[in-house]
Amino acid sequence: MKTSHVDGGLPAPVQLPASEVDATQAAQLSREIRRLAEERNAVILAHNYQVPEVQDVADFVGDSLGLALEAQKTDSERIVFCGVHFMAEAAKVLNPDKKVLLPHLSAGCSLADSITPESLEDWKERYPDHTVMTYINSSAEVKALSDICCTSANAVSVARSLPTDKILITPDRNLGQWVARQLPEKDFAIYDGVCPTHDVLRGANVEKTREEHPEAIVIAHPECREDVLALADEICSTTAMMERVARYPEAKTFLMATENGIIHQLRKQYPDKTFVMADGCIGCRLHCPYMKVTALTHVQRALEEDVFEILVPEDVAEGARRALQRMMAVPRD
Ligand code: 13P
Repeated sequence: MKTSHVDGGLPAPVQLPASEVDATQAAQLSREIRRLAEERNAVILAHNYQVPEVQDVADFVGDSLGLALEAQKTDSERIVFCGVHFMAEAAKVLNPDKKVLLPHLSAGCSLADSITPESLEDWKERYPDHTVMTYINSSAEVKALSDICCTSANAVSVARSLPTDKILITPDRNLGQWVARQLPEKDFAIYDGVCPTHDVLRGANVEKTREEHPEAIVIAHPECREDVLALADEICSTTAMMERVARYPEAKTFLMATENGIIHQLRKQYPDKTFVMADGCIGCRLHCPYMKVTALTHVQRALEEDVFEILVPEDVAEGARRALQRMMAVPRD
């Protein structure tokens, strides 16, 4: 028997989060957005967790690393960043001469908010000999106080590349522990932040969902807890998830332990496969409210009114850029 998630049972699968516009309106708005993007010389970048219609109107959809690289490549004058604040800020840091627009100012990140310059300084005092490796989900101020950045796509390679054996990983505890398990030769101190969207998922939820899909392959994001990662066949960044599916040509069903926006690109790329959220429900627990605030109407407004421009003071940007560029110089495994 299926029960609602309110009483603690596993919820029944539902549709992707409801759009605020119907399909006809979405098509009209998308055409207008594409026209405006051309007129304003803007590139539209969207993260894999954005609502489907925002992903579909974008020039490029990707993970944090892919979006940062794409932002660096563009010749456009404007970058409309459909993601969350720290991503747009990183794009601005890397491209100080471009205008970077975030369509919705409420698009924050709880994980990035869990670390501030003063809390990082506190940890640095506790671990004075450690090199600070900070996840891209952090503010520019925190990056500027860090030695190097990483994303979920390169965290292990970045940690391995560091000449030191003592590394302080911030702010994601689950990702930090995952990196530490793979590099036992190094000594890690791990900050205690989490992404609430990933951290709510438990191994028991995945096992319960797998009872209904016993043959399914489990793909998890490294922001998930250790008990979830222990059940995963693949652990990787959101964009890498698209490639990992191709490793299982015989598999029909995949359980996805990450934010539900990922399902859209997966279904487009693999229409013959079935993708199920690892807690059995699209739009319930594995749902980032910040990633979902941006609608097509906000993207249109961003282009029409040139809002909301992301600015980073140059003294902060300089330090953040150093940490990001060091990361980008590390070859991927
Ligand atoms: P990716 O870099 O894997 O897309 O992850 C970003 C993120 O914020 C995950 O919660």
